[in-house]
This record gives sequence, C-alpha cells and structure tokens, in this order.
Amino acid sequence: MARPTTPRPPAAPDQLTAADLMPVLPLTAEVKDGHLWIGGVDTVELAREAGTALYVMDEATIRTQLAEYVKWTRYHWKDVDVVYAGKAFLTLGMVNIVAEEDCCLLCASGGELAYALRAGFPMERVQMHGNNKTPSELAECLDAGIGRIVVDNFEEMERLSALATERGVTQRILIRVTPGVEADTHDFIMTGAEDSKFGFGLNQGLAMEAVKRAITLPGIEFEGLHMHIGSQIFALHSYAKAIEFMVDFMRRIRVETGHDVRMLDVGGGLGVAYGVPDEPSTVKEFGKIVVDGIKEECERHDLPVPRMAVEPGRSIVANAGVTLYAVGSIKEIPGIRTYVAIDGGMSDNIRTSLYDAHYEALLANKADQPREMVATIAGKHCESGDIVVRDAPLQHPEVGDVVCVCATGAYCMSMSSNYNKQVRPGVVFVRDGEWRWSLRRETYDDLMKSDLG
Ligand SMILES: Cc1ncc(COP(=O)(O)O)c(C=O)c1O
Repeated sequence: MARPTTPRPPAAPDQLTAADLMPVLPLTAEVKDGHLWIGGVDTVELAREAGTALYVMDEATIRTQLAEYVKWTRYHWKDVDVVYAGKAFLTLGMVNIVAEEDCCLLCASGGELAYALRAGFPMERVQMHGNNKTPSELAECLDAGIGRIVVDNFEEMERLSALATERGVTQRILIRVTPGVEADTHDFIMTGAEDSKFGFGLNQGLAMEAVKRAITLPGIEFEGLHMHIGSQIFALHSYAKAIEFMVDFMRRIRVETGHDVRMLDVGGGLGVAYGVPDEPSTVKEFGKIVVDGIKEECERHDLPVPRMAVEPGRSIVANAGVTLYAVGSIKEIPGIRTYVAIDGGMSDNIRTSLYDAHYEALLANKADQPREMVATIAGKHCESGDIVVRDAPLQHPEVGDVVCVCATGAYCMSMSSNYNKQVRPGVVFVRDGEWRWSLRRETYDDLMKSDLG
C-alpha cells in the first residue's frame, strides 16, 4: 500500500495528460476539446467568467463520498452516524449538502456552529469539538441545543456542567480519549498518540478519571467515548489497534463503574490521493475495519455494541475540489528551475508550506497535452516559501494559461488567510453543466469591514 507521502521520484517530465490524473480529480472530471471539464463545466471558460484564483467544488463528488460513508458503515451496523468534519471545508452550501445527505456535522468553533445555525441545520445532528472551547462557545452550544459535546479536559467538563446546570438542561457528552496509537501519517497531524494536546490519555488513568467524574457531575450525561488518531491515514491497522484499546477501555468502564458506553466515535482521518501514485484505502475498507472491528471487539468482551460515529473531513472534499489560477509570469533560471507565478499562493493554500504537501497540477487549457517539463508553481506573496507545488510536471506554460491544482478541496479554503491583504478566492459549486457561487470572491471592502481605523 502506498504511504500518504508516497516517496516521489525526482521531478521529471512524466508525459501525463489530464486523462492520467483522474485518480486525484473530481469524479466528473473529463477532457473535452483540449480543456479540463468538471461537473459538466469547462474550467477554462469558468476561469474566464468567474476570475482567478478560484476554488471549484464538484457537488457530485461530495455527495457521492458522503453517501459512500453512509452506505459502507451502515452496511455493517445499523446505528452509525456519519459526522462530516466542517473544518475541512465549510460554506452554507456545504452545510446544506451535509443535511440533505442525512449526515451530521462536526463543528470545532463557535464560528462553525454559527454556520450550522444560519443554514438551519438540525441542531441534534451537531457535534462540538475542540481542546479549548471558550465558556461562550460552550454556552452557545447549550443554547443552540446541539446533540453532543466532545469533552477534552477536566476544566471544560466542570465549566460545561456548571453552565448546563445554570440553564436547567442536561447535555450529552463524549469523552475524548487519546488511545496512545501512533497513526501512520505526517507528524504534524498525528493526534492519537499520548503526547498530544488533545483529550485524556488512556494509559495514565486520566481517561478513567474523566469518565468517573462525568458520571457524577450534574448537567452532563456521559454517553460515550471519542478518539481521533490523526489525518491522511493510509494504514487502516492504526484504527484496528486503537479500537482494540478503546473497547478494552469500555470493558474496564463497565467493571469499574457499572456503566455501558453507548456511543463510540472513532474520528476521521482516512487518507486521500494527492499524487497519482497514492493508493489510499477505500471508504468500503474503512467501514469494514472500523465498524466490524468494533463489533468483533465488543463480542470478544461480551459488551453491547454501541452506536458508532465516524468523522470524515478530507476524504469527503479533498478530491472534489481544484483551484484555478492564471499564469502571470514565468521565470526561467537556466540549469536551476523554472518558476510559474500564479495569482494566488500561500494565502489560499498553506498546506505546501505547512506540511510540505504535494499536489498534481496541469494546465486546464492544455489538458490533452503531455506534461513535458517541470516547473515550480509559485504564489504572489512576499515569502520565498510561498510555493503551491514544488517541481510539478507540467505542460509548457505561457502567460495567461489556466493552472489547475488538483485535490485542493480540503483544508485549503478553510485555512486561507488575507496575508498581504490578499482577497480570498471565491468558491463555486459545479453540477450538471451549471456553476454557482457558494462563496463570492472577497473585495477590498471585505478586507476593511472590521477595521475601525
Ligand atoms: C476530532 C476530529 N475529527 C475529525 C477530523 C477530520 O479529519 P480528516 O479531515 O482527516 O478526515 C479532525 C481533523 O483534524 C479532527 O480533529
């Protein structure tokens, strides 16, 4: 199985055309008249009409991925919640799609909750996370009547108990446990290991102490456990191992407290293909390992099978999205490198500088031509590290070409910034030959709307 950061051969022209890049492109991608089309829309025409830089999201891919999770988790057990992790990509349009696909929504801040409220998302299907939810965020959750809060530390538990008691309500909670499993992924996004800012460690006895305290505190109802072992995970055995530890913990909870864990949430993290050689596990394989794994472990320990939850983010939206840019200038340094400068950069895609992420790129207006050279796609910001794709095989670029960076649907728009007072690109959804703005491009007025001088 290929690893998430599949070792890449030294950059070289690879002669691939867009047709060879389908594994990283949205499901509806096709090449017509030499152009890349997504969702029945010509991306070159779209870039001309809507402008660049531009995030393009394929609605069919998003809906298919959500439906796959519903299908392949509930195939093994009737009670599984598919909780889309909004941190990966969130607009009001996206919230509506999640609602229509019968999924739940994971929020990680008051702002994300505000999106769910504004979209009229059913509050009982909202789950709240975070290692330092502020008192006002906790109050917002209680006032909104959300389904579950995942409690991350003792201070938060006490705070939540007090706030709920004040309001005369009882809030269902999950306890976030760090199972001590090192996921096979990039260190920066590994969160299930013991040395983590998230959750209660299993091995130091903190998780058991947290459960016992949750059972006794007023205003909160201990419903179950939560784990999240990392992101961009290719090796599913990390989940199997963590599930083993979690179900054994459920057994110990029963022995020590007499309580049954009614909900087990295994978090998100399934990896996606960013590069053509990447071979992530499928949703079907994930569903089997996770859901069957929990069932089997429960049977082994003679425990009732709990309701389950999975929290995918990246694997729902990453390959649904591309970013379109215009080539502004080309700098060739003989014998060293060719830089292709685009009208975006680290403000709309920080993942390359942050995680050394790698993307496939192509010229959307030369989609049927082979990638005959190698260029570094550089942003327009005042940082040498402002690179979107380093050493990208590419078709021969010319000023005005439309660069398409693939698989940018997750953690690009949501991590974007206004560095250099750059306005953020808009987001368009494409579907059945039509496109519509989900988030309009920012304006200079937007930049200054909260600046009081
Ligand atoms: C608690 C939690 N759940 C779910 C996710 C979604 O993970 P991914 O986008 O890798 O599926 C994250 C992401 O970091 C997370 O922190």
